[in-house]
Amino acid sequence: MELIDVCDVNEVPVGSGRAFTVGEHRIAIFRVSDHEVYAIDDRCSHDEASLSEGEVDCEELCVECPMHGSLFDLRTGKPRTLPAFAPVATYRSEVRDGRIFVEFSA
Ligand code: FES
Repeated sequence: MELIDVCDVNEVPVGSGRAFTVGEHRIAIFRVSDHEVYAIDDRCSHDEASLSEGEVDCEELCVECPMHGSLFDLRTGKPRTLPAFAPVATYRSEVRDGRIFVEFSA
């Protein structure tokens, strides 16, 4: 596993998501509190939507796909509602020294 320094934590304001390209991965990072972030694949499993553009629920820890409205759990990547039924990949992530790190398999 490889821990990648993706960005300054302030590039992802609390309550929002942002897409980043890291190597071959297009990931969406969501920040739900000062020190809590989640990273999942940016592309919705249902169609071509960018999940980073969806609305984040910081209490329920989910994001709503901006295209058809499936709710994805930020911890597991699993959709909680249709029309998406396949999960998206999740990546362990953390805030350290003001930076956001995401772990990828090498
Ligand atoms: S593209 Fe995300 S639910 Fe359809």
